[in-house]
Amino acid sequence: MTLELGVLLSGRGSNLQSILDAIACGALDARVRLVVSNRAEAQGLERARKAGIPSLFLDHRGYPDRSAYERELVQRLGAAGVEWVVLAGFMRIVTRELLGAFPERVVNIHPSLLPAFPGLDAQAQALAYGVAMTGCTVHLVDEGVDHGPILAQASLAVEPEDTRETLSARLLDREHALLVATLQRIAEGDLTVSPPADAGGRPRVSWRGGPPRA
Ligand code: GRF
Repeated sequence: MTLELGVLLSGRGSNLQSILDAIACGALDARVRLVVSNRAEAQGLERARKAGIPSLFLDHRGYPDRSAYERELVQRLGAAGVEWVVLAGFMRIVTRELLGAFPERVVNIHPSLLPAFPGLDAQAQALAYGVAMTGCTVHLVDEGVDHGPILAQASLAVEPEDTRETLSARLLDREHALLVATLQRIAEGDLTVSPPADAGGRPRVSWRGGPPRA
């Protein structure tokens, strides 16, 4: 089935671009119905415009609280025909308002092998810690930060001469590939998400044919 995507972002939008490129070359069976940024200057908005994709700057500062902002977001996404939401560098914590509207259908990409190094600047965190391997994670979003069930991971060796910039650049290539591969496998119907095995547990993810690879 064709995935009807909404992409939320706050900045550069290179992950959005990789989705658009993959759709254009037939590697991803999806449509980007709407791109939303909470920052007016986000380069991702420009990328959407160039690709002829509907885009929207929705300023969170214009709303009394997170719920009110997300109610508007949900309304806009729903009206655009979005069925799956991708957080692609969206620098906001999301709440049950959005998650409840798209249950187990909100996906995030994070530049570390979660649960290591959640939060901001995961690449710098990995370097500071001195890990030999890092990577990226695509996961379902829950109410924790970079916390929900893992859909796919790709690993990458840290080189002795790596800086935050060189490591981030190499990781970004892996992110692009992993996000597109994961979305395509979802489009192919290979993902099953089951309820937690016990109360308070995490939803369980299984893939027909094994997890996506970058
Ligand atoms: C990526 O590193 C992603 O993993 C993180 O935010 C960054 C977004 O980059 N969540 P871009 O805006 O897609 O270029």
